[in-house]
Amino acid sequence: MGNTVFVINGPNLNLLGLRQPEIYGAETLADVENKCTSLASDHGLVVHFFQSNAEHEIIDTIHRARQEAAGIIINPAAYSHTSVAILDALNMFEGPVLEVHISNIHARETFRHHSYVSARAEGVIAGFGTQGYELSVERMARLLKAS
Ligand code: DQA
Repeated sequence: MGNTVFVINGPNLNLLGLRQPEIYGAETLADVENKCTSLASDHGLVVHFFQSNAEHEIIDTIHRARQEAAGIIINPAAYSHTSVAILDALNMFEGPVLEVHISNIHARETFRHHSYVSARAEGVIAGFGTQGYELSVERMARLLKAS
């Protein structure tokens, strides 16, 4: 638990690389996972990568993280803008939470400007492309070292 970070991805991110590449880029979620895994191991961390299109599976994974993870990096995708239930689950997690968005949600449609999850996140990265995941692993390593 002490060195495990859950990286949780919401709906449609399984199609990263194929999905609107002009917005989300060409890298697949497997590419992102490989980069995060190797970067995390440089910091003595282990990442557990997870993606689901189902809100309840994301919530169940956050519940698991209470026992199994020191920190959570989450891209809740469209559930960012709708899910009080995911916020409630994150509020029961004790470690640091970092929120990632590949695109700059503030430069897009107004319904994407608000994220319920941001109220719980120590930090939010948006608009850095898939590099945002790597930056959040770096930040998580720093936060966990300080704790
Ligand atoms: C996203 C932004 C959300 O608005 C969108 O619904 C997604 C992906 C991002 O990573 O930029 O699915 O979270």
